[in-house]
Amino acid sequence: MPFYGPVEAISRFVYPWSMSPRRKILVGVAWPYANGEQHLGHIAGAYLPPDIFARYQRMIGNEVLMVSGSDTHGTPVSVRAEAEGVDPAAVVERYHAGFVDSYLKLGLTFDLFTHTDTEIHWDATQRMFLRHREGGYIYNDTQHQLYDTEAGRFLPDRYVEGDCPLCGRPGARGDQCDDCGGTYEAVELGHPRSRLTGNTRLEVRPTEHFFLDLGKLQPALREWLREGKAHWRPNVIRFARAQMEHETLRGRPITRDLEWGVAIPVDGYDDKRIYVWYDAVIGYLSASVEWAQLTGAPEAWREWWSPDGGARAYYFIGKDNIPFHAMMWPAMLIGHGGLQLPWDVPANEYLNMYGRKFSKSRGHVIGIRGALKRYQADAWRYALTAIAPEGNDVDFTWDDFVERVNNELVANWGNLVNRVLGFAHSRFDGRVPEPGPLDDPDRAILAEVRDGFRTVGDLYEAVKLKQALMEARRLSQQANLYVHEKAPWKTLKTDPERAATSVFVVLQVIDWLNLLWAPILPHSSQQLHEMLGREGRLFGRQYTETVRDARGSHRVLRYDHAPAVGVWAPEALTPGQALQKPRPLFTKLDTDVAERELQDSATAG
Ligand code: MF3
Ligand code: ZN
Repeated sequence: MPFYGPVEAISRFVYPWSMSPRRKILVGVAWPYANGEQHLGHIAGAYLPPDIFARYQRMIGNEVLMVSGSDTHGTPVSVRAEAEGVDPAAVVERYHAGFVDSYLKLGLTFDLFTHTDTEIHWDATQRMFLRHREGGYIYNDTQHQLYDTEAGRFLPDRYVEGDCPLCGRPGARGDQCDDCGGTYEAVELGHPRSRLTGNTRLEVRPTEHFFLDLGKLQPALREWLREGKAHWRPNVIRFARAQMEHETLRGRPITRDLEWGVAIPVDGYDDKRIYVWYDAVIGYLSASVEWAQLTGAPEAWREWWSPDGGARAYYFIGKDNIPFHAMMWPAMLIGHGGLQLPWDVPANEYLNMYGRKFSKSRGHVIGIRGALKRYQADAWRYALTAIAPEGNDVDFTWDDFVERVNNELVANWGNLVNRVLGFAHSRFDGRVPEPGPLDDPDRAILAEVRDGFRTVGDLYEAVKLKQALMEARRLSQQANLYVHEKAPWKTLKTDPERAATSVFVVLQVIDWLNLLWAPILPHSSQQLHEMLGREGRLFGRQYTETVRDARGSHRVLRYDHAPAVGVWAPEALTPGQALQKPRPLFTKLDTDVAERELQDSATAG
């Protein structure tokens, strides 16, 4: 292969990531409340980004542990169960099953997606509680809570609604305001109203609770927030620091007058439960432990949690979760000691729809299950990354979706692949042609796309996923221009060697681009990988299994990384390698999709 040398030389360049040692990366994903179906806003905000990031990290050879699960506790679930007159566990089961199902279809590669009503989670939560208590970070105090005499009970969190004490918005929930993101106690609401009875004449009664002493943890927390956060998103670090520097943190109650939740591991509190937010964030730890047990190496989780092992923990969340992940959870970890603090909290802003927030109750919503039934997973992955709400709120519209899929994904990438593979397959005997000498444009496009492993890679690494997509798209467009200029279908008759060289070069470029796209488009990347005659699977395999313990049984989503051959490196294609007959990667959408979707939602609502 005399002329093959240059491409091989280009591809054999040594990349920095191939020399650095493997790193452990913990990818924590916000635990969805098991009280409703997820919509596009959830997926774009906190579920798809970690998967893209995790897939990239695995491709560069790092060891990822991506965990999450259904948040089964607290008033979001119990309020819903009471409204339906069913057991909270039944509500949990229904929505948990829905999450597992849609994450499978969307290709979210959780090493473990479990839930919080497990023995391991209860145990981890109670241990953390006792450790905080022994360390002097938990104290008892009397709290004043709203009491509904008609219902004969206290009204914690979502059992009450009223005017937000921070921004004044009416109809705000009892724990956190949807509008301004502020968190507060239900007693602080203006014009409180019971969601159980509609009672507006609520009493304030004393009740005894446990408090996390955030004031005591504040100096250490402040120190940690001051150090080495240059890579944090400005909105996240600004929010956390503002609270830390300007006020003395108040102790926060971490128990509730409720029957649903993790039991308090202290005698005499049978009628109370641990506050859902205290237990939910512990899920990152308990799910790591559960994962380790399921893999048969019960101590393996420690490698991701030890503070001196060089592991990095990323937490993917929506902006309403910032206080809990940039302050509460780090404070809890500091109080516990010996556990790794977050490396980054790449919180997203909101995805809205036609200028308004998604709202199930107002019928202004696109549920993820239906969305995945009607359109390809990779189409959603592409479109939602292209408009990722990384720095500000963004708007979803069906017109934009159709445009992104048809004019970007299909026109820019899908058609390039179709055209070139179709031509190579029919005119070069179904094989990668043998190239002749490379000319300047050949070398230029190879060098530019090869450099994408650095440019696109750096963007994935920095969790700038929208920009990573834009750079991959730009490189794909360069490949289109190259093909347009070389027009091998014309030169085939006059200069077959030149045509063969151009086709070889663009096949090589497509092969590399496919890897650059793979974290965003894992399903079509696998298909293209095979169409190019490559072997093996780029990524591992998702599967589900049922786990039984003393609290019952639950179905979990898992990921087996073993079959993956995906590497973040520009390897050379072999001339003569057999190509498969190409099949289109993506389905072009009908032009009336937007109109139809809007009509359907209007009649459904
Ligand atoms: N279930 C909560 C929410 O959806 C909490 C998610 S993150 C957690 O907002 F780590 F705290 F669970
Ligand atoms: Zn508010």
